[in-house]
Amino acid sequence: MYTVDDRAAGPHDASLDHERLVLEARDVEFDWARLPVHYVPDEPFTTHMLNVLHLLLPAGEEFFVEVFKRALPFIKDDQLRLDVQGFIGQESVHSQAHSGVCERFAAQHLHVTPYTDQVRWMFDKVLGSKPHWSRRRQDRWLLEQVSFISAIEHYTAILGEWILNTPAHDAIGTDPVMLDMLRWHGAEEVEHKAVAFDTMKHLRAGYWRQVRAQLVVSPAMLLLWIRGVRYLYSVDPQLPPGTRPRWRDYVNAARRGLLPGPLRFVRGIADYYRPGFHPSQLGGLGRAVDYLAISPAARSSR
Ligand SMILES: [Fe+2]
Ligand SMILES: [Fe+2]
Repeated sequence: MYTVDDRAAGPHDASLDHERLVLEARDVEFDWARLPVHYVPDEPFTTHMLNVLHLLLPAGEEFFVEVFKRALPFIKDDQLRLDVQGFIGQESVHSQAHSGVCERFAAQHLHVTPYTDQVRWMFDKVLGSKPHWSRRRQDRWLLEQVSFISAIEHYTAILGEWILNTPAHDAIGTDPVMLDMLRWHGAEEVEHKAVAFDTMKHLRAGYWRQVRAQLVVSPAMLLLWIRGVRYLYSVDPQLPPGTRPRWRDYVNAARRGLLPGPLRFVRGIADYYRPGFHPSQLGGLGRAVDYLAISPAARSSR
């Protein structure tokens, strides 16, 4: 019989030493009082695609925090432990920041609770901890949870790098507070992009577990986004009744740089399946650090 503890011996991957940063949780605040319903002007589809983040992340990132707090005692490497503590701090602030947007939705009569209740149920009941299980099963489940989170963090790193590099939102006049929030969050995702992956490897998850988690996460995220955008269209008080999102809206927005295109995701998924892949190969750290130096929210948190 083995436990996560037994498997967590020895120093983690040397590639961790690349792009070494001290991960800091910035105490940011955002004022949503003037946020329009369609904060990407005249672009309800792009707005709602981005809104799905606000619906998923409060419960999702709380789940990350809960799992990584339980993983901490199994981490035998001092540097990785510091990284995980930084990761927990950053994800906890992210979760609260996105909850603030959901409160603004309520004031705008965009009633999102039926959807966010389902999301919370998924993270709490389906993916959450199972205290009634045996110790051995709980340890295995913890490793599975960390592997799911590593697979999700691969997407947040890709999205983070994308939002930092897309001038289309500045050009079209996306609400500046929202754009700052997305870029601050994206930059911190790029900063800590390797932490969940390194934790998964430190706990000795093999290649099959890594791939299997991504095989579950990718279709689940696609479905959550499709359902989320359809739901938001159905409750959007500013859209004519019966308006539906269309695939061509996505193609159109991606072509104009307002959303990441499908090829970016296909390449990202292929990367994750490549033996020898490490998140440090994704790049984007320079841009992230530069953005955090000028972000209004990050600057005012100092
Ligand atoms: Fe985050
Ligand atoms: Fe993250």
